[in-house]
Amino acid sequence: MTDTQSTPNAASAETAAVVVVGSGIAGCSAALAAAREGVDVLLLTKATKPDDASTDWAQGGISTTRGDPAALTEDIIAASDGTADPDAVDILVEHADAAVEDVLIDTLDIGFDETDSGEFDYAREAAHSESRILHVDAATGTHILRPFLNHVDDHERIEVRQDTAALELITHEGRVYGVVTDEAPDGHPIYAGTTILATGGIGALYSRSTNPDDATGDGIAMAALAGADVADLEYVQFHPTASDCEARSASKRSGGAAKQDTFLLSEALRGEGALLRNADGDRFMPDYHPDAELAPRDVVARAVETEREATGEVVLDVSPLEFDAEFPTIAAKCRDRGIEGDEIPVAPCEHFLCGGIAVDDRGRTSLDRLYAVGECARTGVHGANRLASTSLLEGLVWGLRAGEDAAGVGADPDHTVVDAPDLLNRDPDLPERFATEKFARLQRTMDEYLGLERNPEEIARAGAVLRRLKGEVDAYIRTRTARDLYELRNASVVALLIARAASENAESVGCHYVVEDEREPEQPHP
Ligand code: SIN
Repeated sequence: MTDTQSTPNAASAETAAVVVVGSGIAGCSAALAAAREGVDVLLLTKATKPDDASTDWAQGGISTTRGDPAALTEDIIAASDGTADPDAVDILVEHADAAVEDVLIDTLDIGFDETDSGEFDYAREAAHSESRILHVDAATGTHILRPFLNHVDDHERIEVRQDTAALELITHEGRVYGVVTDEAPDGHPIYAGTTILATGGIGALYSRSTNPDDATGDGIAMAALAGADVADLEYVQFHPTASDCEARSASKRSGGAAKQDTFLLSEALRGEGALLRNADGDRFMPDYHPDAELAPRDVVARAVETEREATGEVVLDVSPLEFDAEFPTIAAKCRDRGIEGDEIPVAPCEHFLCGGIAVDDRGRTSLDRLYAVGECARTGVHGANRLASTSLLEGLVWGLRAGEDAAGVGADPDHTVVDAPDLLNRDPDLPERFATEKFARLQRTMDEYLGLERNPEEIARAGAVLRRLKGEVDAYIRTRTARDLYELRNASVVALLIARAASENAESVGCHYVVEDEREPEQPHP
């Protein structure tokens, strides 16, 4: 968007001190912190149900330091292959326990699992050197997000507006003045003192993801189009153990057609002893890494893919666990999809974007009055590969820090300086199948060329396909305001940014694994 497409519509505009876009843990934390500072907050979310946010789908849990901040710091940096920003990691670790205690325990009273003796039942996941993860079964996200949404909804200073998508940022000379939403056919401007993006990840760019269908990279695209800096976008994290089953369910991105029903098999399962086996029944992870099943996520994901290609299948063997008793939610999901027995077929799939909108230690972007928190932001904490159970924590810590800062900066929405982009006289509708077909092409391109392994030729090919696709979408967006179209625009912008970032980084590190030859597989390291 540019602020040259403007019209004198400021007189009828709505104003808010702080606008938060997104209703996962990061958005809720930012809204809460700003409201605690005594300013009014408008929280916009395109979700209509809590489970439309990735937070609701988070399984494993939320890391704490468990009294040893140095060990957590070391694990985060080691999992990132030494690429995490140590200053950002220090902020996360320093504020982790206080944020968890203040918001999740004292304010929301989350009933984290406890042992028989009444202590927290800390779990362990891959690349953690000890058990330090608070969880509720393996459905931690749901148990955090639902009370959190109720809490912010009940807060006298916070208005939550559902089913409302932000389409564009209102910008002028390097400052952000709010957003235009899709509330009316011609867009509804909301001027804000400060704007906080908390729009989550990019799962919808891939055909298989552990994110909800709505994860279309909206905040990253809007910020990038407004000129904000983005960073580390080549680091797309694939989870090693998503289900790979026959079950199918309807998907919004495929126009309601059934696609493979993918769900996460939490790393907590491997943390408790589940093993990975290939189609020959052999346990293979010890051949790839000394930490075997608990190696960093990128290493395990590539090993799983290599063994699938070599032997035809990889399963997660849960026989060492009391699966039904210890992981009832996941066990029920397996049963519902017809997966019986102890061996669950798995394959890697898109899980988390480590990069995003570049922000500082308070979530401030390179644009004045614009903040970004949660998965859409790049704080530097994750570097090239994120440690398990640090995403909820990052959303919480940076959400609180950004909300507090934003409240101090911008309680004065100014709609006298700049007009909102004019979406008037556009057709609200989109020809049937346009978005579906383009999404399918985009996902095929990302799956094939920007997946677990990349090579320079394929990255370049992806860039060419995505540039063409974005051109076709841009031509439509000039005359239409449909939300689906904006989601497609956002997905195509972010896909292209990922392709560009990948093409500019020749080094294999963490989630960005570059191979010279198109078919060269990773070998086990004996
Ligand atoms: C998991 O439960 O395996 C996912 C945890 C995470 O991504 O942090």
